[in-house]
Amino acid sequence: MSTSDYTPKAKAKGKAYWHWNTTKTKLDFPAVIVFCCFFFVFGFLCSSLRSQVSGVRQRGRQLLNSVEYELMGHGKTGDDSISVIPFQVISWRPRAFYFPKFATLEQCQHIINLAKPYLAPSKLALRKGESEGPQDVRTSMGTFLSVSDDPTGVLDAIEEKIAKATKLPRTHYEHFNVLRYELGQKYDSHLDAFPVEQYGPQKSQRVATFLVYLSEVEGGGETAFPFENGLNMDGSYDFKKCIGLKVKPRIGDGFLFYSLFPNNTIDTASLHTSCPVIKGEKWVVTKWIRDQKDFF
Ligand SMILES: *[C@@H]1O[C@H](CO)[C@@H](O)[C@H](O)[C@H]1NC(C)=O
Repeated sequence: MSTSDYTPKAKAKGKAYWHWNTTKTKLDFPAVIVFCCFFFVFGFLCSSLRSQVSGVRQRGRQLLNSVEYELMGHGKTGDDSISVIPFQVISWRPRAFYFPKFATLEQCQHIINLAKPYLAPSKLALRKGESEGPQDVRTSMGTFLSVSDDPTGVLDAIEEKIAKATKLPRTHYEHFNVLRYELGQKYDSHLDAFPVEQYGPQKSQRVATFLVYLSEVEGGGETAFPFENGLNMDGSYDFKKCIGLKVKPRIGDGFLFYSLFPNNTIDTASLHTSCPVIKGEKWVVTKWIRDQKDFF
């Protein structure tokens, strides 16, 4: 600012301006209220716009639940986004994890519709010397579906999400097994893995099982673990009994458990039951994950 600004004329101008400001456009009380409301609404709109942007990726960054993450450079088969799949640890013996709202209601209904025309009585894996499994152990109806059976891409999306949840590659996945349990139907306690003493040498072993419950069940139909944390392991357990840790089927929820310990031996605490349906019906889709790519 030069000294010439401090002339009486400049001062007079400033004074005149201030005078004009306070007298001619004096804001009365209602106008102040309107003014404040405008900025309040403006600010509110801006913040809601900002929250809608949450989850959007931009130049190596990703905003998720108001936390900004910096993305890492990734390999050919990697992702250019951060994945968040909520889960709860249900047990470490067996290793069992619950994934609430894993699939949408639409995805569940879609998978049921795909499977419905192909349902047939579910089979048992045959033990050494068996030509037919025992009756009344597994009474559900079911069918196998592969990702290529679903041109809409729902099965593909579910399988990809299972891979992200389990961190086990899709090359090791059996086809989806969709199952329907009606009133009274169940699957007595069994292991998903194949003990060599009962089944003979296997080309591959089942490592883990991922279930997605496709329907609400009004009563029964829980996935139960009678040997959870060493319970009932004294030899007295009746394999037809639905006891132990119970996971209630709820539509859209995912559930993962491991049949093998980290050292690749079978975890007997992974023994599980599909308890009889007491009311309504139970739809579930199962994904078995193997330790080898060529498993049959
Ligand atoms: C494998 O791991 C389980 C659980 O930690 C353990 O009980 C078992 O003895 C191990 N088996 C072998 C052969 O290392």
